[in-house]
Amino acid sequence: MEVVLLPTPEDCGRVVADAVAGSVLAALGRGGSVVLGLATGSSPLLAYRELLRRHREEGLSFDGVQAFLLDEYVGLPAGHPESYREVIRRELTDELGLDPAVVHGPDGAAADPLQAAHDYEDRLLAAGPVAVQVLGIGANGHLGFNEPGSSLASRTRVKTLTEETRIDNARFFGDDVTAVPRHVITQGLGTILGAEHLVLVATGEAKAAAIAAAVEGPLTASCPASVLQLHRHVTLVVDEAAGAQLARADYYRYVLSHKLTDQGW
Ligand code: GLP
Repeated sequence: MEVVLLPTPEDCGRVVADAVAGSVLAALGRGGSVVLGLATGSSPLLAYRELLRRHREEGLSFDGVQAFLLDEYVGLPAGHPESYREVIRRELTDELGLDPAVVHGPDGAAADPLQAAHDYEDRLLAAGPVAVQVLGIGANGHLGFNEPGSSLASRTRVKTLTEETRIDNARFFGDDVTAVPRHVITQGLGTILGAEHLVLVATGEAKAAAIAAAVEGPLTASCPASVLQLHRHVTLVVDEAAGAQLARADYYRYVLSHKLTDQGW
């Protein structure tokens, strides 16, 4: 895993945008359609703004890209402003010029969410592999909505949120925890591992313990993000606050400052 420790969240946004743009361009260069894996949450927002800036000002094109979301709440009606489908449309894909028809997410409003989860996994496998998957991390180490205890081999399925996650996410629902759905559909950890490149971004001290556990702790379902240790191409982009509990921080800085010019992300 490459741990990229940077001074500020803005620096993190630029590196994540570089990594995403690099993987998308490389995949487009190989021909065919490219699948971009998108995460919601506040962590990737600066990276998304940077991608939008490059799209607007530098002509970075997403033609030929299909997007797949990591997860979705169960029970929010289609079009609800906090459904992840709406959030990603608002924050990124509309302005990138992606037709809503190529932006896919689990159908959290389906009458049968268990079937909707299976269907989403099938759609992703048929379209994939995901060229680059953007990830955030929960304060409890969750990836997507794979809460602690999630099978490291899990596929897309319905999960029940921890109270901690519902409380964390209440800020998007007017600070009303009761408005945060209890259930979600999330890509499984095994599904996420199927992407060719994983780019995780974390900023702020609230993520420091989760980042240290994911990178330097044991591989364990108790910290779902530790599953990244099994993947062959992971870029973890963290600011100093989120990296504050990393024991090998000096080594990661040393590696970064001695990166070969053509090594890429
Ligand atoms: C949310 C999402 C995750 C996200 C995480 C962190 O609940 N399901 O995909 O990475 O929690 O969110 P944030 O980036 O807002 O801290």
